[in-house]
Amino acid sequence: MATTLSTLAYLVASVLFILALRGLSHPETSRRGNVFGMIGMAIAILATLLHPGMGGGGIALVIAGLVIGGSIGVFVASRIQMTALPQLVAAFHSLVGMAAVFVAAAAFYAPESFGIGTYGHIHGGSLVEMSLGLAIGAVTFSGSVIAFAKLDGRMSGAPILFQGQHWLNLGLGILLLVLVIAFVATGNAVLFWLIALLAFALGFLLIIPIGGADMPVVVSMLNSYSGWAAAGIGFTVGNILLVVTGALVGASGAILSYIMCKGMNRSIINVLLGGFGTTGGTAAAGDAAAGDRVPVKAGSPEDAAYIMKNAQKIIVVPGYGMAVAQAQQVLREMADLLKKEGAEVSYAIHPVAGRMPGHMNVLLAEANVPYDEVKELEEINPEFAEADVAYVIGANDVTNPAAKTDKASPIYGMPILDVERAKTVFFVKRGMASGYAGVDNELFFRPNTMMLFGDAKKVTQEIVQALQR
Ligand code: TAP
Repeated sequence: MATTLSTLAYLVASVLFILALRGLSHPETSRRGNVFGMIGMAIAILATLLHPGMGGGGIALVIAGLVIGGSIGVFVASRIQMTALPQLVAAFHSLVGMAAVFVAAAAFYAPESFGIGTYGHIHGGSLVEMSLGLAIGAVTFSGSVIAFAKLDGRMSGAPILFQGQHWLNLGLGILLLVLVIAFVATGNAVLFWLIALLAFALGFLLIIPIGGADMPVVVSMLNSYSGWAAAGIGFTVGNILLVVTGALVGASGAILSYIMCKGMNRSIINVLLGGFGTTGGTAAAGDAAAGDRVPVKAGSPEDAAYIMKNAQKIIVVPGYGMAVAQAQQVLREMADLLKKEGAEVSYAIHPVAGRMPGHMNVLLAEANVPYDEVKELEEINPEFAEADVAYVIGANDVTNPAAKTDKASPIYGMPILDVERAKTVFFVKRGMASGYAGVDNELFFRPNTMMLFGDAKKVTQEIVQALQR
C-alpha cells in the first residue's frame, strides 16, 4: 500500500515537473511554472521521506542534507547578482555531476544498500547504468567547472586550441567507451576509477576550446548533461522519479541547445564535439582597421531626447549592459513617454543577448513591458529599415556586422540585429569597450551612429528628465 502511494506521489510529481517546464516556456506563464515545479519537488521529498524503506536514520540523514544543502542554496542564490546567474547555473551543474560520481561510487562499494547485488557481484545491467552515470557525471563536473571559470572571468573566454585537439578528444572518447565495456565485463575497481579520471579529463578538454560567443550553448548543453547524469543515478538507485526528472532536464536542455545553435547559426555537432571547426579568430580581426577610423560621434541625453521626441518608430535593443545597470524600469518609463508623444516603440530581442537564455525577456517582464511590444530577431529585423531610431542599450555583440562580413571573427555566422539600418542609432554604453566576444564593433564609427556614453540607467534617466521638460 505504502509503495503504491509513493509511486503515485512520484507520478503526480513527474506530471507537475512537466507542467513546470511547459509554464517556463513563456514569460506570462513562467511564475505558474515555477510554482508547479516547487509543489512537485515538495511532493517528491515527502514521498521519499514516507517511503517504506526509509528508517528513522534515513529520514534524519535526508533532513540533515536538506537543511545543509538548502541553506547553502538560499545563501548563495540570495547574494548572487542577476548578471552572474549563468556562472551560478554552471557551478550548480558541476554539483549535479559530482553527485552522480558519488552515487555511482556508493553503489559500487555498497551495492547491497541499492539492491543491485553484492560487492564484486553486481548485476550486469546495474554496472552499465553505474558506469554511464559515472562517466556523464564526471564530464559534467569538470566541463561545468571550466564553464564557470570562463563565465566568471576567472579564466580567459578565448578558445584554447592546440594541434590535434579533436583527434585527442576522439581518441579519449573511444578509450572511455572501451573502459566502460571492460568495466561492465569485469566489475573491476581500478577500471571504475579510470573511467572517472578519463571522463574528468574529457569534460575539461571539451569545454576549453569553446570561445566566449559559444558559451550560451555550452551552458544549456551542460544543463542537458547534468540531466542525463541524474537519470543515470535514478537507474542506479532504482528511483523512477529521478529517472523521469533527469530525462526531462536532459531532453529540454538538448532542445534548448539546439534552439540556441539555430539562433547563433552554429552546428550542434561542432559545439557538442567541443569547438570543432572553431577558426580561432580573435578580437584582433576586428581591431585591424581600428587605426583608419574616424572619431566617434558622442551625444548627450538631451540630444537623444530631442531626436526621439520627433521620431515615429523607435526600436529598443537591450543587451547585457542593461542588465548590469538594472535599467529596465527607467527604460519602460522612457518608452511610455515616447508613446505619449505618438511614437511606436518595440523591443528587439536577440536569442543570446545578455548572459543567459531569456535574460532580456525576464528583465523586460519585470518592468511590465507589454509582451506584444517585445519581438524576436527574425520578426524585428526587417523593421529596422523603417525605424527612425534604434536605441541600443548595453548591447554590443548582438549588433556587430562583423558577424556577417568578417570570416575571421569569432562571432562570424551569428545572426545579428540589423540596427545600422535605422536612420539614427544610439549606443548607450560606458566607453568603447568590446562586448563578451571581445570583438570591435565598427558600427560605433558609422555616420548615423551617436554614442551616449555613461551608465545605461543614468543615461536613460537623463533622457526621461529631458523628455519631461
Ligand atoms: P555584450 O556584447 O557583452 O556587450 C555588452 C556591452 O554593455 C558592453 O560592450 C559594455 O560596454 C556595456 N555595458 C556594460 N555595463 C554597462 C552599464 N552599466 N551601462 C551601460 N553599458 C554597459 O552584450 P550583448 O550584446 O547582450 O551580447 C551578449 C554576448 O554574451 C554575446 O557575445 C553572447 O554570445 C554572450 N553570452 C550570452 C549568453 C546568453 S545565453 N545570453 C551567455 C553567455 C555569453 P562598456 O564596458 O563600454 O560599457
